[in-house]
Amino acid sequence: MAKVLQLTLAVIKPDAVAHPLMLEALHQRILDNSFVIVRCKDLVWRRQDSERFYAEHSGRFFYQRLVEFMSSGPMRAYVLAREDAIRHWRDLMGPTKVFRARHTSPASIRAQFGLTDTRNTTHGSDSVESAEREIRFFFPEFYVEDWMKKEEPLFR
Ligand code: PPS
Repeated sequence: MAKVLQLTLAVIKPDAVAHPLMLEALHQRILDNSFVIVRCKDLVWRRQDSERFYAEHSGRFFYQRLVEFMSSGPMRAYVLAREDAIRHWRDLMGPTKVFRARHTSPASIRAQFGLTDTRNTTHGSDSVESAEREIRFFFPEFYVEDWMKKEEPLFR
């Protein structure tokens, strides 16, 4: 059976973008893992962007820390395509918590580059619904439906 392409949203967080060699290594890791880069942009969030994006975590003890960090400097966002993209990118990142990542997935991005549970280098959508929402959030000018129609054979 033909493999079906899927889109996901991947973000390289400010801790990693601040280090050019780390940014380069992460970009290369994306290419080495058979992802197609559909869109890519560098951006800086205002605090209110960060609050909106992480609204589901408001009230949790780490919320302020997370919001502050994600609006502290440049990020790089990608729309990535490959078959089973959401799961593959999350596997590549490893668990959210760096301590756990180092124990369970030592070859993962967060195990290798993550500093703390906040400064954990990357973000990835966790479901088809969140990928749609997050791609729209980061790339409002990217019309996924139009793009998929154009690339239709890849999505069947
Ligand atoms: S949880 O607990 O399963 O809901 O957490 P998770 O969905 O994996 O993480 C949500 C984002 O919150 C950040 N996070 C933290 N920041 C600071 N301190 C602690 N303890 C902490 N735990 C989680 C984490 O980096 C996640 O960011 P994203 O961008 O979604 O990966």
